[in-house]
Amino acid sequence: MIEQLTANITAKTAAIGVIGLGYVGLPVACMLANSGFQVTGIDIDADRIATINRGETPIGGEEPGIAELIASVVGAGRLHTTTDYAALRTVQVIVICVDTPVDEGTHLPSYRALRSVLAQLGGVLAPGALVIIESTIAPGTMQRVVIPGLEASTGQQAGRDFYLGHCPERVTPGLLLHNLTHMSRTVGGQTPAVAQAMIALYQNYVTGELDPADLLTAEIVKTAENAYRDVQIAFANEVALICEALGANVYDVRKLLNKSPGRNMLLPGAGVGGHCIPKDPWLLIANTRDQVQPQLIPSARQVNNRMPLHMVDLVEGALARHGIVLKGAKVAVLGYAFREDTDDDRDSPTGYMVAELERRGAIAAVQDPYVPEYKRSVTDVTTGAHAVVFMVAHTVYKSLDLAATAQQMSARVLVDGRNIIDRAAAEHAGFTYAGVGNV
Ligand SMILES: NC(=O)c1ccc[n+]([C@@H]2O[C@H](COP(=O)([O-])OP(=O)(O)OC[C@H]3O[C@@H](n4cnc5c(N)ncnc54)[C@H](O)[C@@H]3O)[C@@H](O)[C@H]2O)c1
Repeated sequence: MIEQLTANITAKTAAIGVIGLGYVGLPVACMLANSGFQVTGIDIDADRIATINRGETPIGGEEPGIAELIASVVGAGRLHTTTDYAALRTVQVIVICVDTPVDEGTHLPSYRALRSVLAQLGGVLAPGALVIIESTIAPGTMQRVVIPGLEASTGQQAGRDFYLGHCPERVTPGLLLHNLTHMSRTVGGQTPAVAQAMIALYQNYVTGELDPADLLTAEIVKTAENAYRDVQIAFANEVALICEALGANVYDVRKLLNKSPGRNMLLPGAGVGGHCIPKDPWLLIANTRDQVQPQLIPSARQVNNRMPLHMVDLVEGALARHGIVLKGAKVAVLGYAFREDTDDDRDSPTGYMVAELERRGAIAAVQDPYVPEYKRSVTDVTTGAHAVVFMVAHTVYKSLDLAATAQQMSARVLVDGRNIIDRAAAEHAGFTYAGVGNV
């Protein structure tokens, strides 16, 4: 039966369903449709569905190619989206791309969206269908949550009546289509034959390597690769704090350190956000905490979570050099998205930074050219401010007229959380400069 499905995928006669049309699912649905499959997209967000069915993009920021691709595949009738799961009755492959957050307090996965999808597939999953989870999940989730969830809702047996795969995504906002098509993928199948069916599907638009694996390996690879990054960033941040305390410039240190063979220190910064790096390390350790009692991974989370608060310390210190106290000071905060040139503000470091500023009595005004709530001119927030803080490396900020900005402000304090402003240029414009790892 799986061989027949593989043949249908190869012939592109297998209809595809994609559930969850966010930063991951929408580009996936578009690429599959663009490859010649008939694709049905499902989301619970009716506004999003309406936007996509008009051939428009709900994704903001600078996202090369996505608007054109949506217009093209919707216009050609290859992608149709709906909130109605009944539309999935005839599809043979279902790709699940819903969000998989962790609980704020316990850091354990909540899986509300995933469990809801598994339940709703009950009445509609066609016999012999292949269900692929692209969402990032804690190692063990396919066995503990997905298989029992689907078996309970469908009354069918995994591996006999339907097939399961886990092919975690490696995209990042701002590079969605580029990463989707160029990155290699770990293709986890319940059996090697299922992995081969998945490879037949993904090879239609992925030019990177497609590496077959089992379900558990695929789960660990994805969560471990993001935990690795978080730990590396935490290391860079800790070295930056050491440099600040000693009066050195972390960027000079990093450049020389990276000349040592095998070293590749990452960039420090104002914090780590988004829907991946802050939660995937918790997913990695979720099911083995009691046995392993991990130290390094939770510590890295702590170091990185502290950086937005450290930004407030930098503001306070730089204001003090002007004899200004933080309480009552006006602070212009530039950037709210978690990543440059995107509108993705999930787990925004700026959100934590602003909350800390306000807790300590400062008056914060945020500007971001891509996040609807904060779309206004930079001048709107810098006029009369005592300090300006760069939280995100949006390209437009790099060419800001520093002299003109200085003129509008009540005091000239500039705090750079992303090393995007040349210190000498800032000082030439009359600013007192402080940066992460470079005070
Ligand atoms: N954003 C990234 O760059 C990225 C990269 C790699 C992996 N991932 C992983 O991919 C998954 C999805 O991330 P995302 O950024 O696309 O999330 P997202 O929040 O942008 O998209 C999730 C979508 O699922 C929809 N949804 C929620 N519950 C639903 C339900 N019951 N039925 C149908 N639709 C439902 C939401 O309305 C939303 O549109 C996560 O597991 C994430 O960790 C994300």
